[in-house]
Amino acid sequence: METAKIEEVIGDFINLKRRGVNLIGLCPFHGEKTPSFTVSPTKNIYKCFGCGKGGNAAQFIMEHEQYTFPEALRYLAQKYGIELAEQEISQEARESFQLQDSLFIINQFAAHFFENQLINTEKGKHIGLSYFQERGFREHTIKKFNLGFAPEQYDALTKVAQQNGYNIDLLRKLGLTTNNDRDFFRDRVMFTIHNLSGKPIAFAGRTLQKDKKVPKYINSPETEIYVKNKVLYGIHLAKQAIRKADECILVEGYTDVISLHQAGIENVVASSGTSLTIGQIQLIKRYTPNIKILYDGDSAGINAALRGLDLILEQDMNVKVVLLPPSEDPDSYVQKVGSTGFENYIDQQAKDFIFFKTNLLIAASANDPIKKTLLIQDIVGSIAKISDPIKRSLYVRECADLMNVKEILLIEEVNKLLQRQFKKEGIERQKPEEIDRPIANLRVVKTEDEPQTEGEVTGQDTFQEQDIVRILMTLGHHVFDVSENMSVAEFVLGNLETVLDSFEHPLYRTIVTSAYEHLVAHQFLSTSFYLEHANPEIRKLAIHFATPPYEYSQGWEKRDVYLQTQEMPEQNFTADSVQALKRFTLKKLIRRCEENHRKIQHASNEPEQLMTLLKVQQKLLEVRNNLAKELKTVVFS
Ligand code: UTP
Ligand code: MN
Repeated sequence: METAKIEEVIGDFINLKRRGVNLIGLCPFHGEKTPSFTVSPTKNIYKCFGCGKGGNAAQFIMEHEQYTFPEALRYLAQKYGIELAEQEISQEARESFQLQDSLFIINQFAAHFFENQLINTEKGKHIGLSYFQERGFREHTIKKFNLGFAPEQYDALTKVAQQNGYNIDLLRKLGLTTNNDRDFFRDRVMFTIHNLSGKPIAFAGRTLQKDKKVPKYINSPETEIYVKNKVLYGIHLAKQAIRKADECILVEGYTDVISLHQAGIENVVASSGTSLTIGQIQLIKRYTPNIKILYDGDSAGINAALRGLDLILEQDMNVKVVLLPPSEDPDSYVQKVGSTGFENYIDQQAKDFIFFKTNLLIAASANDPIKKTLLIQDIVGSIAKISDPIKRSLYVRECADLMNVKEILLIEEVNKLLQRQFKKEGIERQKPEEIDRPIANLRVVKTEDEPQTEGEVTGQDTFQEQDIVRILMTLGHHVFDVSENMSVAEFVLGNLETVLDSFEHPLYRTIVTSAYEHLVAHQFLSTSFYLEHANPEIRKLAIHFATPPYEYSQGWEKRDVYLQTQEMPEQNFTADSVQALKRFTLKKLIRRCEENHRKIQHASNEPEQLMTLLKVQQKLLEVRNNLAKELKTVVFS
């Protein structure tokens, strides 16, 4: 029997690129920016090294489309004219599919029961249906969303379910029946919650009592088929519309989804009262990168909610926020102004999340410098979550304007956070198969001179000297320390002041001296200083360094120059420049030790001079060894 070509099946949903015998792509089951989702055509399986999910073609379809096992098989058969051998699924897996199937079937039964109560019983019609109708829900809408009614009687559902042969343990597991065999949902209007493929996975019951002590909504418990943080209410009806509009509207409540849908705005889902989770965001991301969040006009926890939105930025989504007029929610407002009025309103009012947040916080921190500092940190934190550098710089500029602070200050704050992130990711990104590779910054740095490439002037310290020049040319204009208002060039050159003429390589000596003089005279030193330099050798070198990334990333690991991250070296400039400077200083200290040692050998018959030289040597060795320790470097002397 022919089996499904796994790369073809998965390729319908994910961009896969060949890597060796396997294919790789971004995992659809967890958020990631570097691919760890691997498909093996030879083994006919997929495996994500990030989240651990894996399986065969059918399991992928089940997971991705939230199908049952038989549905996944049907999908594969229809789409590819192929069948999957049953025995390819383990006994254990089959049992878990069967349990899930039973849960779906029982929920389906319960959903029909609640619907039937609503439409066909006196109480249901009188209490439930009239309530929905009063809220403006039409019959078609009620059917479409499988709305229902749970009667007051204490075991109505449990009784008929058992009469129909449904297992009481499973009824309990689904939360439909309580431990003392009563119905869990009673005297409430019912909302059926569906998964992506439209199967009932849970219920929410709304009380019609005004009594504040009665909870307004009660919900099914979590089960194998209902994992709350991965569910969005209405997604089964919204997914096509979301794709078409290339935007997902996010609201808080069930009734908001229903009303908007009825008004013809179908790209809507609800997070169901909780703040948005990563799982929910990833579900949306399958269909669009654009989210528009509607907040009630008087939403109390709006600040808290906004903080949660950084999560969305982290997932590379574009987020807009709409604040509805006071005391309106999407449901009430669309019923008031109609679909066109509603659409116009949200189009006009939609504000980019970061600007929205900035404005909101500015208002809250007016005339309060401490609050303003916090505000800047907060906004900077949000901006740093955006992975697109162009977008980031745009936000930085606009937000600096809005907050009335210098752009450079924001840039540097953002950069600091990014560096921290990169460091963290660098460690987390170690893949299982790479674990036996040594982690760069734990390795011992060799101090032997690097082999020189042909044509370069060779000197013993050329490599360390070149590295200083590289830092100056590529990173010199960055701010090294915001509080000190100091650039990388100022930091590096300031520390080299006294040793400028100990540069052995003539070109490098010319460059640092020239840069130092320029800095002293002009205060500002950027890449263009070197690129436009009168000396053609300097221009040439500047161009060489300015051509990232592959030019000088070849072998950068080997040279232990960039220690902290797997990102491009220039994103790590503070650590980079500190390290380079230390390595340079160490090299020069070693030289001075050697020189001093020679002097000691020749000063043997001048005891006073010898005494001084020995003291100097002791001091030099001490400083040298301390620095070597800091650099985790072994010095051979
Ligand atoms: P709302 O209180 O705004 O309810 O809660 P609503 O959906 O607008 O309902 P109506 O219009 O008053 O009938 C928003 C969402 O928060 C969750 C539900 O998902 C609700 O739709 N919620 C609210 C609960 O889960 N439990 C509650 O007790 C209240
Ligand atoms: Mn409401």
